[in-house]
Amino acid sequence: MKLSVSLTVNGKPVSAEVESRTSLVDFLRDRLRLTGTHVGCDTAQCGACTVLVDGKPAKSCNILAIQMRGREITTIEGLAANGTLHPMQAAFKKHHGLQCGFCTPGMVMSAVGLAAETKKPSEQQIREALDGNFCRCTGYHNIVKAVEAGLEAMETTP
Ligand code: FES
Ligand code: FES
Repeated sequence: MKLSVSLTVNGKPVSAEVESRTSLVDFLRDRLRLTGTHVGCDTAQCGACTVLVDGKPAKSCNILAIQMRGREITTIEGLAANGTLHPMQAAFKKHHGLQCGFCTPGMVMSAVGLAAETKKPSEQQIREALDGNFCRCTGYHNIVKAVEAGLEAMETTP
C-alpha cells in the first residue's frame, strides 16, 4: 500500500507516495537520488546513514519515510552552500579525518548535530557523540581532531 508523505529535505519541500515499509535512507537514496547518505549495515549500528531530523542526528536506516511527515531532514548534500564546504566538511578535509570516506557523511552529520546540542564539547564528549558512528579506516584520532576544529570554525563562521 502506498501512503503520501510531505517533508522538507535540505530546505526544499518534498511530497511523494511511498510504501509503508520504505526506510528514510532508501527514500533519500533511491527516490531523491541523495546518495551521499550511505548504508553500511542497515541495522542501526554503523552510523553511515546518519542525517539530521529537525536538527538532531538520526540513523535513517532505522526510520520509516512515512514517519517523517512534516519533519525537516538535512543530508550531507544540504551542508555546502554555493560551492563552499560547510566548516565541518572543510575541517575533515584539512585534518585528514577520512580515508575511504564511506563513514564520513554520517560522521559529519553527527558532528554538526553535536554543535547544536553542546557548546564547546570536550574531547570525551565528542567521542561519546560519535560512538554510534563506526570507521574502519582512520582509528578515529583525526576524526576527533577534525570535529574539534569544525566546531570551532562553526562558532566563528557567520
Ligand atoms: S546503515 Fe544505518 S546505522 Fe548502519
Ligand atoms: S574513512 Fe573509511 S570507514 Fe571511515
